[in-house]
Amino acid sequence: MTDAPTEPFRALTGMRDVLPPEAGRRRALLARFAAAAERAGYAEVSVPVLEELGVFERLGEATDVVTKEMYHFADQDGTELALRPELTAGVVRAFVQHAPTQPWKVWVAGTAFRRERPQRGRYRMFDQVGVEVLGVDDPDLDVEVVALAWQALADLGLRDVTLLVNSLGDHEDRARYTEAVRAYFASLRSALSEAEQDTLDRNPLRLLDSKRPELGPMVAAAPSLAEYRSDEAAAHYERVLAGLRAVGVPYTEAPLLVRGLDYYRRTTFELTSGAIDAAQNALGGGGRYDRLAEDLGGRPTDGIGFALGVDRVLLACDAEGVFDGAGPALDAFVVDLTGGEAARDLTHELRAAGLSADRRFGGGSMRSQMKHADRSGASVALIVGEDELQAGEVTLRPLRGHGADDGEQRRVRREDLVAALRALPAHHDH
Ligand code: HAM
Repeated sequence: MTDAPTEPFRALTGMRDVLPPEAGRRRALLARFAAAAERAGYAEVSVPVLEELGVFERLGEATDVVTKEMYHFADQDGTELALRPELTAGVVRAFVQHAPTQPWKVWVAGTAFRRERPQRGRYRMFDQVGVEVLGVDDPDLDVEVVALAWQALADLGLRDVTLLVNSLGDHEDRARYTEAVRAYFASLRSALSEAEQDTLDRNPLRLLDSKRPELGPMVAAAPSLAEYRSDEAAAHYERVLAGLRAVGVPYTEAPLLVRGLDYYRRTTFELTSGAIDAAQNALGGGGRYDRLAEDLGGRPTDGIGFALGVDRVLLACDAEGVFDGAGPALDAFVVDLTGGEAARDLTHELRAAGLSADRRFGGGSMRSQMKHADRSGASVALIVGEDELQAGEVTLRPLRGHGADDGEQRRVRREDLVAALRALPAHHDH
């Protein structure tokens, strides 16, 4: 037997327990997202949390997400495995493996892991929801995808959100631009911090979205991306922007938006919140990807998608005071003063009839049970005393916030109870 720990176990650094009611609020967010995605013709896909390390190495040898932050280890048989740092690579791996009919429009939700320095809004285990589409190059799809991300946030009631859009051009454009940026910053090397010099060597484009103010003037004078876009990529981008204007999604062009993963080409975008800390203000992001299907062993396939960070979206909702996520309250709370059998039987009967009901175990006085009934948020208390029991009736008493002030309590026959509860204004179908 192992000894009991001297200190109680705690969740790992950067990994959080999500307790009620927050867990229910997450699920409500997920349900809304799922409904919106399905209205747009996306079907749900679910892929493993654990994959061969190689699946994620394709995200970019130059990205921190892959080189520094990935949880990876050798399996008992020696295979190198990794916990997914994002969902896109797994979805594209599944696409290559199963070769579904194209276009493949899917939505996906799940947990991702990054060994980052934890802080508010930045965790080592976090949830994402998003979509991926494979097999369509049409810029109007970019509009659909960006609009879906935008609308998902707007539907939660978020107002302080900025949509940043950019186009990184095609593979060759991006490569030429990267070289130009590398040469430019190499000439300024001595003005860069040590970390920035390292970034310059590994992934010069990332210098463009550096947050260090001293770098600002140098970034402003850096080569401009627009000059490196091919005519085709530029036309694609123009069509995306025109589409966003047409459907009324407000955007800000952000020529320095490079994003943290290496697989992007053409359209890239990010949604930031003005209501939370600037260091973690990205609620989501995405774009078209370059060569991901090929890198995972498939045929060249156009792909685009985005992910929203659920944890951060909820922080933004808190900051803006929207989407409190309060679920529908219970229909009834049974207060049994006759020993508990009535509570046992009534709750079962109501639930079987599709109503929601709870009760207090261990009995207690009328006063104490009523206190629990109030706290439960139920619409009514169903009181069963000796008198009601004899008469085959239940006293139905409206609770606080549900007409307790003007609603008279009344006696209802047990066989009429389900109908009486369904007729209450606060009743939701479950
Ligand atoms: P990403 O920008 O790395 O993109 O992550 C998307 C969102 O996940 C971020 O905007 C943020 O809200 C959330 N997020 C990322 N890291 C953390 C963290 N450590 N703690 C809390 N939230 C976090 C992707 O993951 C791409 N796969 C998006 C995509 C899909 N591109 C194309 N398709």
